[in-house]
Amino acid sequence: MSSSEFRVEKVVSREVLDSRANPTVQVDLYTGSGFGRFSVPSGASKGHLEALELRDGDKQRYAGLGVQKAVENVNKILGPKILGMDSRDQAKIDRILINLDGTENKGRLGANAILGVSIALARASADTTKSPFYRALAEGRKPSLPMPLMNIINGGKHAGNELSFQEFMVIPAGFRTFKEALRCGGEIYHALRLRLEAKYGKSAINVGDEGGFAPPINSVEEALGQINDAVDEAGYSPGQNVALGIDAAADSFYNQASGKYNVDGKLIDGDDLLELYVSLQEKFPLKSIEDPFHDEDFASFTRITKKRGAKVQIVGDDLFVTNIKRVAQGIRVKAANALLVKINQIGTLTETIEAVEMARKANYGLVLSHRSGETEDNSIADISVALATGQIKAGAPARGERTSKYNRLLLIEEELGSSARFYGPEFLKSHN
Ligand code: PGA
Ligand code: ZN
Repeated sequence: MSSSEFRVEKVVSREVLDSRANPTVQVDLYTGSGFGRFSVPSGASKGHLEALELRDGDKQRYAGLGVQKAVENVNKILGPKILGMDSRDQAKIDRILINLDGTENKGRLGANAILGVSIALARASADTTKSPFYRALAEGRKPSLPMPLMNIINGGKHAGNELSFQEFMVIPAGFRTFKEALRCGGEIYHALRLRLEAKYGKSAINVGDEGGFAPPINSVEEALGQINDAVDEAGYSPGQNVALGIDAAADSFYNQASGKYNVDGKLIDGDDLLELYVSLQEKFPLKSIEDPFHDEDFASFTRITKKRGAKVQIVGDDLFVTNIKRVAQGIRVKAANALLVKINQIGTLTETIEAVEMARKANYGLVLSHRSGETEDNSIADISVALATGQIKAGAPARGERTSKYNRLLLIEEELGSSARFYGPEFLKSHN
């Protein structure tokens, strides 16, 4: 293959819509003989140290949420600068994008603009080699199918109910293939739907931002109990082949002024919250707890990891914001034992891989994650396989912007055939 085939020939960006009817950045990138496209996702419960998503602020359009400036930054600044470069030089090009912006949080040109180019570049380069994206990106790593963490009850900022915790997940770990794990999640989703409708009425099966149900429940224990029973009713065994997980997203119910958390309508302090997690863990096969405390409370993360980390995955999302400085700090003080990986928290593929490799070296678990605002783009499925993260969080097994990731993983598993590895059983073993 000649190097002219890999040359960046054209970069075009446009504004498209995400799953919450908010505009987002889409980038197309053409090499001499390849093409890559990426649509940037967007969070609702963002960590305060995330890279900045540039929004127009023009209240006349999309209530200020337009991304025309970011699109223009791709079309007029970032794209033109990398024309003629070799698309295989991902790290070098990402560095150029970062320097063109020149700020710590990518706030000048926008992390949404930069990430759009970064991932479209990786996809176009893979397409030029005629390999699937996950294969081209894997390089020396052994591709691995991730275990899905499926968010089937939504609360917090993702739903119009009173649940303090944001996500209640099923973790179908005890299976040999991704396909069987997905089936398990889908069947539990249906069992839960029937339960919720019977117990709370029709409105309980309305869904939240990530496709999980948003029932009128105001107790986190009750939400976990409903899921646990649904696992049973669907014919699976809680704790044996299916574990449960939560993303508390504790920042969203933490009150800085009082230093207290508002859980189930009560104001409690960090110690009480820790005790709540311990009691939930004694009642349910709860094996993954994400963002249990607000995102500056490294000390509490360290305490819960020390107390429960041998059996439970403690995941840092808003705590780490996929940023190597924060991850390094976490490793130093033994806060958490797993990293949530969101490409748009940091804004380039290269920096995402750096965070992943740093965490992996420290024996952290890795969960590649979507955002609550998504598109039909399925790139994160390939990225999770290529980086062998072992786990993926892509919402409920429902709604197109969620199933696009899961369905892509089905295809990848089929393509890998007998060489496909699935991480689930390994997770069960190491958290027993
Ligand atoms: P977000 O939620 O995309 O709204 O930030 C996802 C998460 O907190 O994991
Ligand atoms: Zn989270």
